[in-house]
Amino acid sequence: MSEKLLEVRGLKTYFYTLKGVVKAVDGVDFELNKGESLGIAGESGCGKSTLAFSIIRLVPAPGRIVDGQISFMGKNVLDLSEEDFRRNVRWKGISMIFQGAMNALNPVYTIGDQISEIMIIHRNYTKKEALEEAKKLLEMVGIDPRRVKSYPHELSGGMKQRVVIAMALALRPPLVIADEPTTALDVVVQAQIMNLLKKLKNELGISIILISHDLSLIAEIADKVAIMYGGKIAELGLSEHIYLNPKHPYTQGLLGSIPRLKGEIRDLTWIPGVPPDLSNPPPGCRFAPRCKYASEKCNREPPVIEIERGHYVACWLYA
Ligand SMILES: Nc1ncnc2c1ncn2[C@@H]1O[C@H](COP(=O)(O)OP(=O)(O)OP(=O)(O)O)[C@@H](O)[C@H]1O
Ligand code: SF4
Ligand SMILES: [Mg+2]
Repeated sequence: MSEKLLEVRGLKTYFYTLKGVVKAVDGVDFELNKGESLGIAGESGCGKSTLAFSIIRLVPAPGRIVDGQISFMGKNVLDLSEEDFRRNVRWKGISMIFQGAMNALNPVYTIGDQISEIMIIHRNYTKKEALEEAKKLLEMVGIDPRRVKSYPHELSGGMKQRVVIAMALALRPPLVIADEPTTALDVVVQAQIMNLLKKLKNELGISIILISHDLSLIAEIADKVAIMYGGKIAELGLSEHIYLNPKHPYTQGLLGSIPRLKGEIRDLTWIPGVPPDLSNPPPGCRFAPRCKYASEKCNREPPVIEIERGHYVACWLYA
């Protein structure tokens, strides 16, 4: 039987801003087994990064987790003290490749020093031991280990992203969250980074949560896919459920907007309108103002229906 690695239940993370409460993550549920990868897709502002920050307990102010459970390896990590979480879970258990991280490498330190620092802090390695480990990590992500002495400005965008991936793997965590790891890279480098993530997943047996607004990238790696809309999961299932049998009108709209190279030639479609303001979302189904199937019922919160085993959809059409 597969071993459960992560279980998120009823998670709510809100930002308490001067303009009101932004319900960025508003009742999210999903689970992930060891070695499995999950893709999280959805338009800008739907709460993907906030969900990731919640899992690694780094929600920036004025945000905070207001409800729910995040169980990692059987333990609700929201019950741990910050000290306990920092020592035992963050980076060792769950690490994250932050959105835009490759541009946040420290320009005055070599990449070797930046990778080593993690081992010096968390594993009490000497500087020499840590540098040796940094070389191994660079090799693992496809960079010549002699580059330990390079500074970030001496590397290409793709190489910088590989360094950031090496840092996330430094303590060999069983779960890595990658938030838009290929945005701002050209398509060739994008494909190389996706191949690297796929290889690391297979060789190291790690679980990856890949966040992207691009469903075709997610298809490369994800065993399961969650489609987020307005702070909630609209649809969740195995990749084949989502790509071959999408049920939620929003998922259908997202998939209709991706060109396909194989199969039938069809017109691309798009979703009219804009995502909801999460400080004042519409009542009931948050997708209703943009949904061509919306009816009276949709003014109430849609139920989550299990359409087929492990395939969930939050929509009145299937109730
Ligand atoms: N620090 C913050 N303060 C106030 N509101 C925030 C903050 N960070 C995020 N939000 C709000 O929370 C909501 C979700 O944002 P989030 O960054 O999680 O979206 P996202 O899906 O990651 O978007 P993108 O695809 O653009 O990265 C948005 O409405 C955003 O404005
Ligand atoms: S619940 Fe209603 S508005 Fe929402 S996606 Fe389903 S049909 Fe459309
Ligand atoms: Mg984001």
